[in-house]
Amino acid sequence: MAAAGAEARGAWCVPCLVSLDTLQELCRKEKLTCKSIGITKRNLNNYEVEYLCDYKVVKDMEYYLVKWKGWPDSTNTWEPLQNLKCPLLLQQFSNDKHNYLSRVKKGKAITLNNNKTLKPAIAEYIVKKAKQRIALQRWQDELNRRKNHKGMIFVENTVDLEGPPSDFYYINEYKPTPGISLVNEATFGCSCTDCFFEKCCPAEAGVLLAYNKNQQIKIPPGTPIYECNSRCQCGPDCPNRIVQKGTQYSLCIFRTSNGCGWGVKTLVKIKRMSFVMEYVGEVITSEEAERRGQLYDNKGITYLFDLDYESDEFTVDAARYGNVSHFVNHSCDPNLQVFNVFIDNLDTRLPRIALFSTRTINAGEELTFDYQMKGSGDTSSDSVDYSPAKKRVRTVCRCGAVTCRGYLN
Ligand SMILES: C[S@@+](CC[C@H](N)C(=O)[O-])C[C@H]1O[C@@H](n2cnc3c(N)ncnc32)[C@H](O)[C@@H]1O
Ligand SMILES: [Zn+2]
Ligand SMILES: [Zn+2]
Ligand SMILES: [Zn+2]
Repeated sequence: MAAAGAEARGAWCVPCLVSLDTLQELCRKEKLTCKSIGITKRNLNNYEVEYLCDYKVVKDMEYYLVKWKGWPDSTNTWEPLQNLKCPLLLQQFSNDKHNYLSRVKKGKAITLNNNKTLKPAIAEYIVKKAKQRIALQRWQDELNRRKNHKGMIFVENTVDLEGPPSDFYYINEYKPTPGISLVNEATFGCSCTDCFFEKCCPAEAGVLLAYNKNQQIKIPPGTPIYECNSRCQCGPDCPNRIVQKGTQYSLCIFRTSNGCGWGVKTLVKIKRMSFVMEYVGEVITSEEAERRGQLYDNKGITYLFDLDYESDEFTVDAARYGNVSHFVNHSCDPNLQVFNVFIDNLDTRLPRIALFSTRTINAGEELTFDYQMKGSGDTSSDSVDYSPAKKRVRTVCRCGAVTCRGYLN
C-alpha cells in the first residue's frame, strides 16, 4: 500500500512508501526528528499501510485514517483517497463496511454522520476485522512453518470476528505424555524388490497390502494398515508408503456458517479412498482420559479418541495439541473414514489413526468424519469418553445429513 502525497507534489514516491509529509508528521507525533531515525530512501520502507481504520469527507475530499505498520495507533494519519494506491485495502474496507451493514440488517442505512464522518460502530467493526485478518494470517504462517507435510494449510473466517484459538499447539505426530513410550523403530523390515507383488510387511502381519497402484485404500474399514518402515529395503517410492508421507492436499481451516465453529475444507479435489490426514494429539492412558473427560466440557470431550483397536489402554487427546484434524467436524454421513496404521511402531495398543476419503471430495467441500466411529468402526461402542459421574449432556448435531442421528454423542 502506498501513500503518494509526495508524488502529487512532484517529490518521489515508491509503491508502499509513505509521503515525506506523512513521515514528518509521524516523526512529530513520536517526538523524533527525521534525523534521529535517519530518513533515507531505504528506510522509508518502514512506512507501510497496515490497514484503513476510518473514513470521512472534508470539503468534498475523501479521507481514510491509516494505521501504519509497526507504528502505534497514536500515529495514525488521515490520508486523502488519491494518496492511497492499494486497491486491496480499499476493497477490504468497503467489503467490511457492507458486511457490517448487512449483518445489522440496515443495508441501506446512512453510513455517515451529519459531519460526514463514518458512524463509530462501523469504524470499530472495520478495525476489529482488520486486526482479526492480521492475527489469522500470522496463525496461518505459523501452522505452515510447523507442519512437516506437502499440503499447505490456509485459514479463513468470513463469518464472524473469532480469531485464532488461544490454547492450541500444532504438532505433526503423537505427543506421548510421561510414562508412555512410543517405540519408533520397527522390529521387522521387508527386503522386497517390489513391495506391490511380493510378500511384504502386511503379509508379515497376516493382512493384505492396503493400497492399489493408485495409492487408494482397498481394504475394508476395521482392517489395519501395515506400511513399510525404516527397516525396509524399499525406497520412498514404494507403493506401501502413503500415510508416512503426510497430507498431500492443501486444506483450509474455515469458520463454518452453521454454528459448528471452525471446520476443515479441502481446496483441491480429493480422489475417493485417498489418504487425507492423520489424527494426532497427546497420547494419554485411559485413566488419564477418564480424568480429563470429567474436567472437559462437552466440546473438550469430542477431542478424545480411544485407541481401541486391540486394547483400550490409550487415548489420543487432540484438545490442546493437534494438527488440522483437531478442527474436523462430525457428520452422520461423513466423507472421511478412520483406519488404524502401523509403521515404525508395531505395538498394537498404539496404532496411528489415518483418515481416508470415502468418496470423491470436490474442492471447497468440508471434510468430516463420524465421531462415533472413532477407533474400531463400531457404532454401538461409545468411543467418546463419558465419565459415569458426569451427566451426559448431548450436543445437537448440525451435520444436515438426511441420515443425521440428531446428536453428536
Ligand atoms: C473436534 S471439535 C471440531 C472443531 C471445532 N468445530 C472447533 O471450532 O474447534 C468438535 C466440536 O465441534 C463442534 N461440532 C463438530 N461437529 C459438529 C456437528 N456435526 N454439529 C454440531 N457441532 C459440531 C462441537 O462443538 C464439537 O464439540
Ligand atoms: Zn516393507
Ligand atoms: Zn516397501
Ligand atoms: Zn448428524
